[in-house]
Amino acid sequence: MVPVKKEFVQSMFSVEGKVALVTGATGALGCVLAKAYGYAGAKVFMTGRNAGKLQSLEDEFKAEGIDCAYLAGDPSNEADVQAIIKACVDKFGEVNILAVAHGFNKPQNVLEQSVADWQYIMDADCKSVYIVTKYVAHQMVEQGKGGKMVVVTSQRSTRGMANYTGYCTSKGGADMMVSCLACDLSAKYHINVNSICPTVFRSDLTEWMFDPESAVYKNFLAREPIGRLGEPEDFVGYALFLSSAASDFITGAHCDCSGGYLVV
Ligand SMILES: NC(=O)c1ccc[n+]([C@@H]2O[C@H](COP(=O)([O-])OP(=O)(O)OC[C@H]3O[C@@H](n4cnc5c(N)ncnc54)[C@H](OP(=O)(O)O)[C@@H]3O)[C@@H](O)[C@H]2O)c1
Repeated sequence: MVPVKKEFVQSMFSVEGKVALVTGATGALGCVLAKAYGYAGAKVFMTGRNAGKLQSLEDEFKAEGIDCAYLAGDPSNEADVQAIIKACVDKFGEVNILAVAHGFNKPQNVLEQSVADWQYIMDADCKSVYIVTKYVAHQMVEQGKGGKMVVVTSQRSTRGMANYTGYCTSKGGADMMVSCLACDLSAKYHINVNSICPTVFRSDLTEWMFDPESAVYKNFLAREPIGRLGEPEDFVGYALFLSSAASDFITGAHCDCSGGYLVV
């Protein structure tokens, strides 16, 4: 008998009925991931610092039949994160999936950057990942049912770049954290921790790079075998895969989702 179960194959990509907590839900990628989890049948708990945006997302998603809620908070603030997880559990009973999609950058040459500016980026992109994953891990361990964590980092986590001592260092730290969290949490607690590493995709901050006449756009395109830059929707498949049983044997992986950026 060939050892693969029909029921497993037919449901392995499902996140139906799971509870997904999404940070940075107010951002270009976070709102797409949050809605995608909802379309896939998960209950969605959103967070970010902008309560107004979260409210309008909740209105939009509920109008489409998505079961969702939110609490505003800062992912680099321990008390906020604890309150967000509690609110999620109060509303939906548990947390099964964590998608970390918040982030920040302020490019500056090291010679001009203050230590405070560097630290701000480190807190926004690295310390916050520690705090969010740590407290969600506590919750998942208490539930005793395992879980899935998907952290959005960057291809910059392994590549330097001018003016990016804050961003590249913090993303490198976040990807190393993913490796360590996998070691801490996967075998004993069945919590898979992986990252998605994008190159440029469209957001309010990167829109200017999508001008087909600009040198920046042409340079990026030359590094993209897929023939275009990214869109937030390009990451939905990976996020759902890494949140479902289909990825049960994958942990500590830094998943390239870059249109082939790595092969050129
Ligand atoms: N766009 C790209 O080309 C690209 C490429 C590679 C990797 N990434 C990474 O992908 C993730 C999502 O990017 P995106 O383009 O969707 O970003 P985005 O549209 O700028 O949204 C990022 C979200 O993070 C939150 N945020 C901003 N500053 C923060 C801070 N100091 N502390 C905590 N949260 C903060 C914001 O929400 P609130 O203001 O509501 O808190 C915002 O909604 C980020 O980790 C980013 O670094 C992006």
